[in-house]
Amino acid sequence: MASIELVRVTKTFEKNDVIKDLHLTIADGSFTVLVGPSGCGKTTLLRMIAGIDPQTAGSVLIGGKDVTSIAPGKRGVAMVFQNYAIYPTMSVRENIEFGLKNNKVDKEERKRLVETISATVGLADYLDRKPSTLSGGQRQRVALARAMVKKPSVFLMDEPLSNLDAKLRAQMRLELIELHKQLGTTFVYVTHDQVEAMSMADNIVLMNKGVIQQEAPPDGMYHDPSNLFAAQFIGVPPMNIGELSMNGAKFGFRPERAQVRPAGQAGGTNPDHFSMTGMIVTREMLGSETLYQVRRSDGNAYMVKCLEDLFAVDQEVQIDVAPEHLFFFAEDGSRIRRDDRSYAEYMRALRGMRNG
Ligand SMILES: Nc1ncnc2c1ncn2[C@@H]1O[C@H](COP(=O)(O)OP(=O)(O)OP(=O)(O)O)[C@@H](O)[C@H]1O
Ligand SMILES: [Mg+2]
Repeated sequence: MASIELVRVTKTFEKNDVIKDLHLTIADGSFTVLVGPSGCGKTTLLRMIAGIDPQTAGSVLIGGKDVTSIAPGKRGVAMVFQNYAIYPTMSVRENIEFGLKNNKVDKEERKRLVETISATVGLADYLDRKPSTLSGGQRQRVALARAMVKKPSVFLMDEPLSNLDAKLRAQMRLELIELHKQLGTTFVYVTHDQVEAMSMADNIVLMNKGVIQQEAPPDGMYHDPSNLFAAQFIGVPPMNIGELSMNGAKFGFRPERAQVRPAGQAGGTNPDHFSMTGMIVTREMLGSETLYQVRRSDGNAYMVKCLEDLFAVDQEVQIDVAPEHLFFFAEDGSRIRRDDRSYAEYMRALRGMRNG
C-alpha cells in the first residue's frame, strides 16, 4: 500500500504543456477516480505515475519516496490499460503467471498465487481456457488478475471497462469496488464517464485541459461544485444553466430540483424562487422517472426530472426552483456561494429576469 504525491508536475509534448504545475495527493488505500473530457491529460498523468512516460518537471512520490529516477517495473505499481493485451495463445493460467515467471518466482509459489488471485476475480474455473473462449468481462478480469498477481502497492487503471457493454460494465464496477475493499490497495482509476466516477470513487479528481478543477468525494462533487465546469460535468442530465442579465453571470439548477405544475394553477410564486412558465417540448419516460424539456418563450430550454409522469408534450407548465437549489457563477466560471458578498446582486439579477 502506498500514497501518491505529485509535486509541481509538468508534462510537455513538443513545447505544448499538456499538464502544468500540477499538485495532487492521493491517499493510501483510497479509490481515486481521475475524470475529465477526452484529451484533458488523464492518461498522461497515469503514465507519469507509472513511470512509462515520465514528467518533464516536478516530482512523483510513491509511499513518500521520490520515484522520479526509478524504472516503471520497480515502482510497485501495476497498470491496466483500456486495450488490455492478453496473450491469445496462452491459457488463462499462463497469462496470469507470465509476469511471475519473468520475475523468477518459483513454481510452487506461482501456483499458489495464481489460484488465490483467480479465485478473487472469479476465474478459478477458467484457468485452462484460452482467452478466445471467454466473454469480454472475463477477459477483462484476466488482465486485472495479471496485474494483481504482482501484488502492486498501487493499481493504475486506464478506462479498463470501456470495451464492455453497459450491463457488464455496471457489474464490473461493483466487482472493482469489492476488489478494492478486499485488497486495500491504492486504486487510481481513469475514466471520462462521470457515472463511473460517481459510482466507484472515494475521491474524485476532475480535470479539464490539464488543470484540476475540483477534488472531492462524489456527494461533494454533485452538491457543492466549485465552478461552472464541475457543475456541468457531473450529473445526468447536466445542470441547467441560464444567462443572467449581468455581464457573463449565470445561474443553474439541477433537473430534479424543479417543482413542476400545470401553468395557470392558483397560487402566487415566491419572489426568491426561480419561476418560469414554458411549453413541454420533449418527454422521456425512463421508467422510475420522466425527463421533460421545457422551453420558455425566450427560446431557452431547461430539463426537469419528475418521479411521476404527469405531463404531456405541448402542455404549458410552471417551473419553480427554491433558492437553496440555485447556483450562481461569475463570468470566469467561479462559483458564487450564499456567503459571497455579491450573492444578493445575483439574486436581484435572477428576479429581474422573471418576466423577461
Ligand atoms: N505522445 C504524445 N505526443 C504529443 N501529444 C500528446 C502525446 N500524448 C498525449 N498528447 C496530448 O496530450 C493531451 C492529453 O492526452 P491524454 O491521452 O492524456 O488525454 P486523456 O485525458 O487520457 O484523453 P482520453 O479520454 O481521450 O483518453 C492531448 O491533447 C494529446 O493530444
Ligand atoms: Mg486516455
